Amino acid sequence: MAHRYTSPLTAADVTPPELYFNRRAILAGGVATLGAGLIGGAAHAQVNNEELEPNSWEDITSYNNYYEFGTGKSDPARNAGQLTTSPWSIEIDGMVDNPGTYSFEDIMSEMTVEERIYRFRCVEAWSMVVPWNGFELADLLNMAGVQDGARYVAFETLVRPEEMPGVRSPVLDWPYREGLRLDEAMHPLTIMATGIYGREIPNQNGAPIRLVVPWKYGFKSIKSIVRISLVEDEPPTSWNMANPREYGFYSNVNPNVDHPRWSQASERPIGGGLFARRQPTLMFNGYETEVASLYEGMDLSVYF
Ligand code: MTE
Repeated sequence: MAHRYTSPLTAADVTPPELYFNRRAILAGGVATLGAGLIGGAAHAQVNNEELEPNSWEDITSYNNYYEFGTGKSDPARNAGQLTTSPWSIEIDGMVDNPGTYSFEDIMSEMTVEERIYRFRCVEAWSMVVPWNGFELADLLNMAGVQDGARYVAFETLVRPEEMPGVRSPVLDWPYREGLRLDEAMHPLTIMATGIYGREIPNQNGAPIRLVVPWKYGFKSIKSIVRISLVEDEPPTSWNMANPREYGFYSNVNPNVDHPRWSQASERPIGGGLFARRQPTLMFNGYETEVASLYEGMDLSVYF
């Protein structure tokens, strides 16, 4: 099922996990100082992607949320192997100059794939660091030609009951749906991911192509996308439809706005060891410098 696209990355661009392990061991020596620094200054700290320690392949691919394959964290790794991801195509429709069905291969032949190491913060208050391979969503939208008047982008996941045991039960109103405002979608931090650690993205992480929006809670990062629509009005989104009181359209990571049932001020990094202790959550997940201007003048406790 290999997708034959060329990635500019080679194995040499990806730091082998043993090296991360060694760096972690060295860092652990300075943990007391680091801890003090976090409590003192983290609230305003920014993410320096160079300094982020990615989680292991094992962590990233075995602890997942993908309800089409079950609601347990290990269900996707167990059940998603049966998903057929080739051939794959994405329908791009709505207010675009070039609507149509784009095959995955055709999309990949037009796009430049690069590595982006992003913090990932789930609404359930855990977090990971993932070395994604992907391209900017803006490049895909520009290829489709966004028309004047389009203000939002709506996304849909595949629904295939034969291969997705989870969609046989109505935990969510399928298909899984997500949306972004057009300026969020066009932001250079917003990517379509097609790989992790330089390898093809595993099914449980959203093969062959999923969204990643690093300043928003993880559920905005919709997996296995089959449809992208440019629309005028704010589109319905799965978690907002399921529980509008708990999940807003924006879902920006914000330590100052709690989930109605728990605090969002801190998070538990997945990965074990000394670094598993809770750490303060950063405004916009640490990407405040880059994205705060998108929300100028908006009351983020109303638009959560
Ligand atoms: N996309 C689909 N189609 N179905 C889902 O259940 N879960 C979301 C998001 N995208 C989900 C989805 C949630 S709640 C999270 S936290 C992230 O995927 C998890 O991504 P990961 O498994 O790659 O860490």
